Amino acid sequence: MSELAWWQRGVIYQIYPRSFQDSDGDGIGDLAGITTRLRYLVELGVDAVWLSPIYPSPMADFGYDVADYCNIDPMFGTLADFKQFADRAHELGLKVLLDFVPNHSSDRHPWFEESRSSRENPKRDWYLWRDPAPDGGPPNNWLSRMGGSAWEWDAPTRQYYYHAFLREQPDLNWRNPRVRRAMDDVLRFWLDRGVDGFRVDVLWLLIKDARFRDNPPNLAYKAGEPAHHRLLQTHTEDQPEVHDIVRSMRATLDEYGKRVLIGEIYLPVPQLMKYYGANGDGADMPFNFQLLNARWNAGDIANMIRDYNSALPEHAWPNWVLGNHDNPRVASRAGPVQARVAAVLLLTLRGTPTLYYGDEIGMTDGDIPPDQVQDPAELRQPGIGQGRDPERTPMQWNTSSAGSGFTTGKPWLPIAANTSVHDQEDDASSMLSLYRRLLSLRHSNAALVQGTIENVAAFGDVLTYERRCRNLRLFIALNMGAKEATVQAHRGVVLLSTLAGRDGDALVEGVNRLAAGEAFIAAI
Ligand code: GLC
Ligand code: MG
Repeated sequence: MSELAWWQRGVIYQIYPRSFQDSDGDGIGDLAGITTRLRYLVELGVDAVWLSPIYPSPMADFGYDVADYCNIDPMFGTLADFKQFADRAHELGLKVLLDFVPNHSSDRHPWFEESRSSRENPKRDWYLWRDPAPDGGPPNNWLSRMGGSAWEWDAPTRQYYYHAFLREQPDLNWRNPRVRRAMDDVLRFWLDRGVDGFRVDVLWLLIKDARFRDNPPNLAYKAGEPAHHRLLQTHTEDQPEVHDIVRSMRATLDEYGKRVLIGEIYLPVPQLMKYYGANGDGADMPFNFQLLNARWNAGDIANMIRDYNSALPEHAWPNWVLGNHDNPRVASRAGPVQARVAAVLLLTLRGTPTLYYGDEIGMTDGDIPPDQVQDPAELRQPGIGQGRDPERTPMQWNTSSAGSGFTTGKPWLPIAANTSVHDQEDDASSMLSLYRRLLSLRHSNAALVQGTIENVAAFGDVLTYERRCRNLRLFIALNMGAKEATVQAHRGVVLLSTLAGRDGDALVEGVNRLAAGEAFIAAI
């Protein structure tokens, strides 16, 4: 497997730092806490840890509003704690990925404070300032992804600034070469500290239309969708010039050797593929989010896999994401039984899997009482049901203590506990055991890591495909329905099934039985 890079062979695990492990009893996770849990990740069998933002921040968007790109928020620790975390991770053979948030800073970042101080300030043009429309209103119709206009009036300097998200998150002007240089220095700051790569926040939003034209209406808008979907994002996302920026990030990472560049990009597959660049000069992995809102049935998922694979440029490496801090958890979307099927899917598809903390124990979305809502997306747009708190609840290490082993204090979000690592650890039929078996099989089986994917097909509720590498040939069958089904197979042996006690069973040539919600991997 040696010709593949570590990030092609490996599995990424996303930690939402506020919610993984608290070490000081303030109810909020921190770096020292994460460091004490690294061994758990090694035993689980993942290879790289991606931390959502840990930089100094007023926390208007829980760290996605950065006030200093080159430091650690005291809530999470210090640069020394970060070093300890990264050193320990590296000792244990884990790679360390950071979240890079270049599209916007916090409004409390010194750059923005300077920028807003006067129209003549040298940093004025580091952000997107515009004069009001003739009627005094916002310069154009662009909408914030967190509700309302994307333009905020600044009375002292009598101009508006643009924010794709909260008003506390002004967008940087990536057409300004000084901004590019400053951000390049940020990448280098962390690369010099041994960081193995970055997940780049909202990469497809970095550049906006140079002429600030109005976005056209979205004629397909349906009631209940977020308000900004009323407009097409024609002039606010996926602008052709963004690819220059991706190329320059890539070039910086290349100076440091094998580092990985991952882009957060919510776009249809054909546009997504452009972020790979040409001849490897783009992102290593534009995140493939299709599973996050897939309709959970065999036919749709078979089509999705085929379309994605056939759209991949030559030499581009695929990837799959099953959960993250912005979307409902898979165990809630698909239900507890299908969450096990989803685990098999994620870890047997071709490409790098990204796993979201807690999904390995089947954590479900937490129930957040209205008076405990924290997510600004929900607080600023009440009633839209877009809140992201449910998928951000604290990691459930045990069910025997009030803080679930996450904290000795009062957790920042309620704990959704009905299961835990401790409860599942010694249970061979648990979700945790399933993930451990899957990860261990994946690491030892070249067909799963680097094999081709072939014969993707759906028959009723059953999805099947093969992974092949030299003389290794695997047959994967997933029953995405609630009824027993049959599947046509070749002679072989089951290496792993979601059902306890089936490993090692023979597959017969012809018709084989697949229990409701069962998925297996067989050598044929
Ligand atoms: C990304 C993050 C999300 C955040 C937004 C603004 O989509 O994943 O959590 O709110 O960017 O930074
Ligand atoms: Mg803490």
